[in-house]
Amino acid sequence: MAYELDDFCEDCKDLIDPATGKKDLDAVRNNLEKLCQNQEFVDATCGPDAKAGVHTLYRDADKDFMVLSHINAESRTSPPHDHGASWAIYCQAVEYTEMTEYDRTDDSSVQGHAELEVTKKYRLDPGNAGYFDSHCIHSIHFPAGARFIRVTGTDLTKLTTKKFSMDEQSVTVVTPNDKAGAAGSAAA
Ligand SMILES: [Fe+2]
Repeated sequence: MAYELDDFCEDCKDLIDPATGKKDLDAVRNNLEKLCQNQEFVDATCGPDAKAGVHTLYRDADKDFMVLSHINAESRTSPPHDHGASWAIYCQAVEYTEMTEYDRTDDSSVQGHAELEVTKKYRLDPGNAGYFDSHCIHSIHFPAGARFIRVTGTDLTKLTTKKFSMDEQSVTVVTPNDKAGAAGSAAA
């Protein structure tokens, strides 16, 4: 029997608990890869008929995690950023996504100043899943037409997060109000 979205969400409820801090992201990542081996699910959510944009497939009323499909018409390279207290797991459906992780090397003592170094770079091809843990500084790049399923610990648009520039050695705090006015902020 195929592993369905309902099965995935039921399993997530056992692996994630914001109340206790439990989050077995490796297990959720493996389950998300299993879900994306279900071609009917991939076709229904990320197939040719899917409309461009970000679509919520599921949100758990108790554990707060969300399952989203990202149907990207245009290519995008995000700046380095974090998701604040939330984590995010991505499984590629169409095209690819390049994932980059960074360490912050300054001591955070100068407001607005930040220095980063790249610590990890890898690529998700269709069927591959990867994750960024809470507060992990990361960036993603994907070409036009890339489509992926993303699972997040909560609604990221409601969190205060950080955005970085390596060229300017800067960090900016991004509030939920900022995100409400910024098109495409949910795409990273
Ligand atoms: Fe992100």
